[in-house]
Amino acid sequence: MENTQDLNRLIGQVNKSNISTIAGMVARIIAVINDPESTAKELVEIILTDPPLAANVLRLVNSAHYSPRRKIADIQQAVIFIGFDALKELALNQKVCEIFRKVVKIEGYSRQSLWVHSVAVAQFAKMIYRREFAMRGENAYAVGLLHDLGIIIEDQFRNDELVTALGMVKDEDLPLWQAEQRVLGYDHSRIGSAVSRDWNLPDEIIDGIACHHQPLEAPSASQVMATSLFIANYGCQQAEIGYCDAPLDNEDIYHQCIENMGIERHAIDLIQNDVHSLITTMVAEGLL
Ligand SMILES: [Fe+2]
Ligand SMILES: [Fe+2]
Repeated sequence: MENTQDLNRLIGQVNKSNISTIAGMVARIIAVINDPESTAKELVEIILTDPPLAANVLRLVNSAHYSPRRKIADIQQAVIFIGFDALKELALNQKVCEIFRKVVKIEGYSRQSLWVHSVAVAQFAKMIYRREFAMRGENAYAVGLLHDLGIIIEDQFRNDELVTALGMVKDEDLPLWQAEQRVLGYDHSRIGSAVSRDWNLPDEIIDGIACHHQPLEAPSASQVMATSLFIANYGCQQAEIGYCDAPLDNEDIYHQCIENMGIERHAIDLIQNDVHSLITTMVAEGLL
């Protein structure tokens, strides 16, 4: 049975912590992503209210990855240079990254490797939406970045329990979420969905996070999101990109997901290759 009392206590701790300082900005960027009528001007205004974020975005836009011919001096120029879509992604990426920066390492897990995993899953899920459903996939990118946020919260506030759970992952070959349920009475997907509900994120994002390890249980309106996320998570683990939170996570569910979505295996293999080379380049360029 779920330990709701402790889960509620944990969410209270998160709301009083450094993690909640990103909430307002993440919610505002996601609102821009989620609204097809939103404009580049709105996004620029939002970024400008957060000077460290603006500085970080400018630093990256001027990096070797984008290599502008002339120095990009402000966010208005940045949006013209890299485009509205890329700026939305970059701003969200940099804001969420703030909570991954602290160095935390426990055997088999580090925030850095979880960050690499999160960006890889975000890219993978976005590519599924773009190539298979001809959709923009921006919410899928956001869910990918946030889906394992609950693990960060555990390493910060339930460290002993996470160490025990990671030990069980290693010794018993369990997916992390199952070990967490045994140790804590809830898992990181429950933490992440409770936090994202507190932050007023869209339902599709909350459900996607809640069901990323059990996509077949997602409400019908969020099935595509949860299923794409499961495939992305599985694909990144198979390709050994970043931290692996569910080794050998149910292969039957994976095949069921691919079948339900009507996706060719070959298409997933191509996405997996593309994500692998993209993330390798990003690591080499110091972007992750
Ligand atoms: Fe997970
Ligand atoms: Fe994951």
